[in-house]
Amino acid sequence: MFAKGGPTFFELMHQALCSTQRGYDLLAPKFDKTPFRTPDAMLEAAIRAIASADAALDVCCGTGAAMRHLRPVCRHRIVGIDFSAGMIEQARLKLSNCEGTARVEFVEADVMQMSFQNEFDLVTCFGGLGHILPRQKSAFLGLIHRALKPGGRFVFYSAYPPPLFSVSNIARRSFNTVMKIRNALLHPPFIMYYFTFLMPEIADELSAAGFTVEFRPEVYREYGLVIATK
Ligand SMILES: C[S@@+](CC[C@H](N)C(=O)[O-])C[C@H]1O[C@@H](n2cnc3c(N)ncnc32)[C@H](O)[C@@H]1O
Repeated sequence: MFAKGGPTFFELMHQALCSTQRGYDLLAPKFDKTPFRTPDAMLEAAIRAIASADAALDVCCGTGAAMRHLRPVCRHRIVGIDFSAGMIEQARLKLSNCEGTARVEFVEADVMQMSFQNEFDLVTCFGGLGHILPRQKSAFLGLIHRALKPGGRFVFYSAYPPPLFSVSNIARRSFNTVMKIRNALLHPPFIMYYFTFLMPEIADELSAAGFTVEFRPEVYREYGLVIATK
């Protein structure tokens, strides 16, 4: 499951017993060797669909995986926001020698506290939506909407729910159950759940937040790209 040099099982267990933020701080140096980092092929497929942007914001930027792909297609500015100082430190290192001329900025903050207003024509989020709780979704979408300029796009991967008895459905729902038990028993919580921004519900929620929604199916394997325009 993990590439050579990735975290050991015990390191992962330790991280999962910490808060989300602390867990990612600990995981940061080895994060790119885990399957939690969005694969480059998946990012490349999204960038092809995005084509270009003037100013982009990558939400839950982690170690900067998407920012490395976005910078060459961004004309002016690329901002990564993440609440883990450790992840941002890795992202800074990776972006220091990456192609492109757009100015690179990092914001170390909880995405639920972001205060951007009419600043971006593109907002992306890869691998970060499982950290947004259902009760936070509407506020989260409102913050993304506020960050975008009119006509700006919020782009992320989603999918339709897998068949009820598929391995993927059973495995991910079991994971969610374990996380719910863990979070009921231990504080601070580690927030990470599957199936939080699934089609078709997310399309309705985006419409309610003021977006016009396009869904391009199977852009990368079973994952489709949501392109929500303000
Ligand atoms: C699975 S990683 C994804 C990283 C990267 N986008 C990628 O695709 O490889 C999730 C990231 O979200 C960040 N994160 C989780 N909840 C957050 C929150 N509420 N505010 C800011 N960052 C958050 C974590 O620190 C972590 O870096």
